[in-house]
Amino acid sequence: MKRMILLAGAISAVAFAHADVTPTASTSTAASTTDAAMIAEGQQIFENNCATCHGRHADKKAFGRSAIINQLDQETIVKALQMRKAGLIQGPGNPAKSRLNDEQMQAVAAYIQTLKK
Ligand code: HEC
Repeated sequence: MKRMILLAGAISAVAFAHADVTPTASTSTAASTTDAAMIAEGQQIFENNCATCHGRHADKKAFGRSAIINQLDQETIVKALQMRKAGLIQGPGNPAKSRLNDEQMQAVAAYIQTLKK
């Protein structure tokens, strides 16, 4: 009996999902909303965890030795963060990097792109 109820629930969920198909226009709206949310999250991460060393505009050499990170592309930044989190590159900024998960790395790297001059 319980199984029947679950099955009925699954069928109506599928039916509902199909009834709820929205036009393509809203897909692109959803994508840009996600981007904006991602950049907002990245900004918060950057200001709380990175700006002290790399500068609020990511335009300083951290400890006089890092690259100016607002000149790096998104992929390069994500790779740099992953390598430091994995301990493949050692640096004084590693604790801040190792706290980030992949999604946060993407977000902070996306935000840094907005700081480019
Ligand atoms: C305690 C200071 C400090 C903090 C906080 C810090 N960093 Fe760094 N970061 C450095 C230093 C010093 C280097 C250069 C040494 C190295 O290669 O890790 C560096 C290197 C980097 C690099 C590679 C640049 C290059 O020279 O190739 C990136 C990208 C980077 N940091 C991003 C970030 C991000 C994003 C955050 C915040 C999540 C952050 N850092 C937090 C000090 C810091």
